[in-house]
Amino acid sequence: MPAQRGTPAPRPSEPAADSAPGRAAADGAEEKPVRFGALGTSSFGWRRVLPAIALCPGTELVAVAGRSPERAQRFADRFGCAASATEALLERDDIDAVYISLPPSLHGEWAARALHAGKHVLVEKPIATTAAEARAVVALAEDRDLVLRENFMFLHHPQHDAVAALIAEGRLGGLRSFRGAFCFPPLPAQDIRYVPGLGGGALLDAGVYPLRAAVMLLGPGLRVAGATTRVRHSDGLDLSGQALLMSPSGVLAHVEFGFEHTYGSSYSLWGERAKLTVDRAFTPPAGHQPVLELVEQDHAEQFTLPAADQLDRSLAGFAAAVAAGGAAASPHEARWRQEAVATMDLVDQVRARAVPVAVEG
Ligand SMILES: NC(=O)c1ccc[n+]([C@@H]2O[C@H](COP(=O)([O-])OP(=O)(O)OC[C@H]3O[C@@H](n4cnc5c(N)ncnc54)[C@H](OP(=O)(O)O)[C@@H]3O)[C@@H](O)[C@H]2O)c1
Repeated sequence: MPAQRGTPAPRPSEPAADSAPGRAAADGAEEKPVRFGALGTSSFGWRRVLPAIALCPGTELVAVAGRSPERAQRFADRFGCAASATEALLERDDIDAVYISLPPSLHGEWAARALHAGKHVLVEKPIATTAAEARAVVALAEDRDLVLRENFMFLHHPQHDAVAALIAEGRLGGLRSFRGAFCFPPLPAQDIRYVPGLGGGALLDAGVYPLRAAVMLLGPGLRVAGATTRVRHSDGLDLSGQALLMSPSGVLAHVEFGFEHTYGSSYSLWGERAKLTVDRAFTPPAGHQPVLELVEQDHAEQFTLPAADQLDRSLAGFAAAVAAGGAAASPHEARWRQEAVATMDLVDQVRARAVPVAVEG
């Protein structure tokens, strides 16, 4: 296959990470980092997010709270911060923001509690388990003029800016379809993702990724035309699924998700002139150099992009939004909120339209 290499110009989509607190303040003085309290002694917090909060120049970890005091203390010892009870965490006046990594069924409720306590919120995906719950918490953030973001890290990777730039340059011609997939192998049987009452299921855990990518790339107004899911015979928990969508301008979309597959994390956009494929679209490691592949009728190009740490960028972007203030009126923050609600609207539609196939699982 003929191949060329190059780097399309990135589309700026996030306030510059270097404007985040702790990086480089305009007057040369160091701005204060955003002080986080972590709600949930989760595996993901332990492995990924809390070490990153502790390392990111714009953020600082002040306290950790969980159901178990011993577990919270273990986190506190590792990260050199305070251990706290959950309710007490929200009352601390040395915390500006709360990072929530509880099971999805608790995201909306605890985000609302944190906002009521006057804290900015970075909540793990999904923001809630229904669109109504997402709307309520978004309205509360607007009312309180506080930053509310989901920790959808992939949105912060500049590879998607490069995709947007190629679309804007007309390299794909008129867009006809989008395909996105996020699937991975089964998890340990006791994992929260297998507990329906905790917001388990593949749609809420994995399906939200390609749905959010469709919202990011195709814009508002997407509707779900149909869906199928493989559900666990014993309790109806969705293990995997597919959905067909359409945009107001007639772009068609197909999303696939599940946790009963080999690993796959990709999307493609197919236009009248070319097809563009992004592999490792949702979870590229920090050192990974993305390769976008653009295939035309008789020509193919590969764009090798610089590696980027999407978790660090997510935290720096959040910290910059807190430092900027005025979250309620900020068009940038409004877009975060609107896209979170739009994604949950699609989740609701997939649930409503899905034709289930019961399987042993
Ligand atoms: N953004 C990403 O890429 C990404 C990746 C992975 C996970 N996540 C998100 O991170 C969150 C945690 O996932 P995980 O894999 O780390 O799960 P996990 O290790 O099982 O953590 C779940 C947390 O919720 C707590 N919890 C469990 N059941 C509870 C209940 N009934 N009431 C109150 N608290 C309860 C646990 O408390 P104990 O410690 O007391 O048991 C633990 O702190 C999920 O929302 C998930 O979607 C995001």
